Amino acid sequence: MKKIPGLIILIAITFSAVAQIETRVLPIIPLPRKVKYSSDDFVLTNKTIIVLTNDKFKPEVDYLNNYINTNYGFQLPITSVLPTDGNYIFVTQPDFEAGFMENYDLSINQNQILFVAEGNAGLFYGIETLIQLMSIEKTPEIKISCVQINDAPRYQWRGMHLDCCRHFFTKDEVKKYIDYLAMYKFNVFHWHLTDDQGWRIEVKKYPLLTKIGSQRKETIIGKPAWDKNGKPSTNDKYDGISYGGFYTQEDIKEIVTYAQVRHITVVPEIEMPGHSLAALASYPQYSCSGGHFETFTKWGVADDVFCAGNDSTFLFIQNVLTEVMELFPGKYIHIGGDECLKDRWKVCPKCQKRMKDEKLNDENELQSYFITRIEKFVNSKGKQIIGWDEILEGGLAPNAALMSWRGTEGGISAAKQKHLVVMTPGKPCYFDHYQSKDKSKEPLAIGGFNPLDSVYAYDPTPKNLSEEEGKYIMGAQGNVWTEYITDFSKVQYMSMPRMAALSEVLWTPKEKKNYKEFIARLKLHSKLLDKMGVNYAKQFLLK
Ligand code: ACM
Ligand code: ZN
Repeated sequence: MKKIPGLIILIAITFSAVAQIETRVLPIIPLPRKVKYSSDDFVLTNKTIIVLTNDKFKPEVDYLNNYINTNYGFQLPITSVLPTDGNYIFVTQPDFEAGFMENYDLSINQNQILFVAEGNAGLFYGIETLIQLMSIEKTPEIKISCVQINDAPRYQWRGMHLDCCRHFFTKDEVKKYIDYLAMYKFNVFHWHLTDDQGWRIEVKKYPLLTKIGSQRKETIIGKPAWDKNGKPSTNDKYDGISYGGFYTQEDIKEIVTYAQVRHITVVPEIEMPGHSLAALASYPQYSCSGGHFETFTKWGVADDVFCAGNDSTFLFIQNVLTEVMELFPGKYIHIGGDECLKDRWKVCPKCQKRMKDEKLNDENELQSYFITRIEKFVNSKGKQIIGWDEILEGGLAPNAALMSWRGTEGGISAAKQKHLVVMTPGKPCYFDHYQSKDKSKEPLAIGGFNPLDSVYAYDPTPKNLSEEEGKYIMGAQGNVWTEYITDFSKVQYMSMPRMAALSEVLWTPKEKKNYKEFIARLKLHSKLLDKMGVNYAKQFLLK
């Protein structure tokens, strides 16, 4: 790093020169760890200069410049020396390394915006804060409130999920979704890519997965019904319209790179052993019954699954995962594991033989055998598996991380067994649930009720874990399942602003959270959502 003489003094005096005030409502979400307020503003124009002392930060500075160019129509020149007059943005590193790569300090006075960050991620988060502070109006000048911020995240896993199987969202829509994650300092995008109703990722070795599995002949209208014996009703209505879509490997690479620029890791989910009917419609030989299947056309769980007694099933999944792992550079591969109906295994001679050979007591242990075998393969490629909490049943695979969705008990049990955990309990982390009690005023949702305040109040670390056990809680995640979310505008409606509330759960120190104050900031911030054209749920505006 090129040292600029007097840098420490510069940092020290930067905020003493502004008129400090007690508080000011600013549109920053999530709320930073520490904020000092001022009544002054910095005025950013096309004459403002960016001073960059270390080229490693160039990608983040380019990101800021692109944002300014796209939204305000000009770019800022970049130099490595402090200007003698005019205002400037100064990007630098702290004088000593502490290893806090997501932390940043941001000090804004009338003449200078100063970023101090050790890691690129830290600078990126500082830039996202700056963007939220920029005045919305498209004028040659951008007003920015003077503040002094010291910021750091509370949790390491700040996730949002999107189901692209029940309904398909285009590459550009997925990128928009990633933009929302970046705005709120999320760092994980959990991409649900395979399910009973659609296989959405190109696998070169198995072209039928996309030729057959990415398509379904029609889609159920509304909710599926069951008769009084619990059997699927024959009265269900279907739309008669073929539906499909998938991402090529080139699309995937583009999205992964897009996310990387925004310091977001994409975790792909490849479902097994259940939720796999689209794969089995393509390659029925890997099912238990071997039967003829069609990609599922209704919501719910299909009753044929990957055969755990057939070695060629494992070879197929391993070949799929080999291509998947080459596309996604992150550490985790999500292998699903939820809602596997094991009735087929009970009557499958191959599965029953496997249980006998491996001395497995029941089908839960067979599921554990299945997941552990896949884990060994994934680990051999230097990656880790993460799965839904059903993978606890029959015994957790030795290195698996767990996503607790059926409440928090699974997460608590895994943490006590010293396994890493992401909390995503249906209440309040499922954003496919209603957000207002008056359902007549809401678009059709799967059920449940997770209003904004319940999301905001959530604390991912259960009270009944010891301090040591609590360290296994990596963070939390919001899930957007799309059975009833037919287009991207509805994805926006269901996820926003609950995503904003969750970001504060994951980033802001617990003792700083205050719902009333959050709503006041959200009201200001909603102008940015309006500018971005986001169809967010507006109930909070009435508060
Ligand atoms: C799930 O919602 N089935 C993980
Ligand atoms: Zn079987």
